[in-house]
Amino acid sequence: MTTRTRQDEGDRAGDPADVPHHATRVLLAPEGIGEAAAALRAGRLVAFPTETVYGLGARADLAAAVRAIFAAKGRPPGNPLIVHVADVAAARALAAEWPLEAERLASAFWPGPLTLVVRRRGDAIADEVTAGGPTVAVRVPAHPVALALLRAAGVPVAAPSANRSNTLSPVTAAHVLKSLGGRIECVLDGGATSRGIESTIVDVTRSPAVLLRHGALPLADVEALVPLVDGGGAVTGPGGRALAPGSQERHYAPRARVVLAPAGAAEAIAEARRAAGERVGTLARGDDAEGGAPHAGAAGLRIALPDDAPAYAARLYAALHYLDDAACDAIVVEAVPDDPAWAAVRDRLRRASA
Ligand code: TXA
Ligand code: MG
Repeated sequence: MTTRTRQDEGDRAGDPADVPHHATRVLLAPEGIGEAAAALRAGRLVAFPTETVYGLGARADLAAAVRAIFAAKGRPPGNPLIVHVADVAAARALAAEWPLEAERLASAFWPGPLTLVVRRRGDAIADEVTAGGPTVAVRVPAHPVALALLRAAGVPVAAPSANRSNTLSPVTAAHVLKSLGGRIECVLDGGATSRGIESTIVDVTRSPAVLLRHGALPLADVEALVPLVDGGGAVTGPGGRALAPGSQERHYAPRARVVLAPAGAAEAIAEARRAAGERVGTLARGDDAEGGAPHAGAAGLRIALPDDAPAYAARLYAALHYLDDAACDAIVVEAVPDDPAWAAVRDRLRRASA
């Protein structure tokens, strides 16, 4: 089926000439998996659900297909991509070395929201995937649609989050259309993702292993199996080159300005901004009579997210997308606990507000 809406046109301002126009098709999973796999095999771009966020996939072994990802997203060519595969054996086939840490973490957490950076094997994937670097990031996603797609495609699939570079990641097919509609062939719709934020990234080419990005897999789970140095998402390697080049300060950001409020101050800050004429949304924390649904409060739109870190993370991007779509000028976010369990949420909120 073909669905074409106003949103399918996306934002084409300032496009390079090499982004062809597509009437982006929405394929429903599971029926659409075969067609999506065929499009991938033919070298085309397909957005698909994972348990974290939607990815924008292309064959990792075809340079032209991978270049099309960078063009559609407006992603700087120096920022490498994660390769998605269906099982550990397929991941190992991309690696020149598979250290004990990789084996331990992969067997414990794959399929799952963990990405491993390993030394890359010669010519299994296009150079564009790794931005010319000697390592490759790999993961086996824990989503039945993603796994079925990867099995049907039978090729490694490079996939960054399916959004324009530096903007909020998509957790529904509608979010993908809002950002990339008109710029990609199709999106495979598998409903809302369950984890809601990106995978945790661990570099196992070094010993001890280095955390490159906080994410959906809690740090404590990784640390229980391998010693880990926290790279804080801002690690630099030889020559000052960023090891996770996508870890720049402003990232994962909605259009609205995100304002982090100290504990207990969110309501007052929101009211002051509203009084100054801004359209304000508030992301509160804790139980809510509306069950997390947006509602109009004294200081504008208000959404309460759960007081539990994984449940909060699962709904964070959807809430930010909602407040953005509601044309908020500012989103006031109530402080989250200064506790290791909340590290990934704190990281995303800090970058969204940078
Ligand atoms: O959950 C996720 O990881 C999602 C889904 C689609 O799998 N993907 C995702 O991709 O978040 P992306 O491109 O938005 O973020 C990937 C991050 C970037 O910060 C990139 O710099 C880093 O992974 N990365 C990729 N390859 C790398 C490598 N070889 N060494 C270090 N960092 C790498
Ligand atoms: Mg991204």
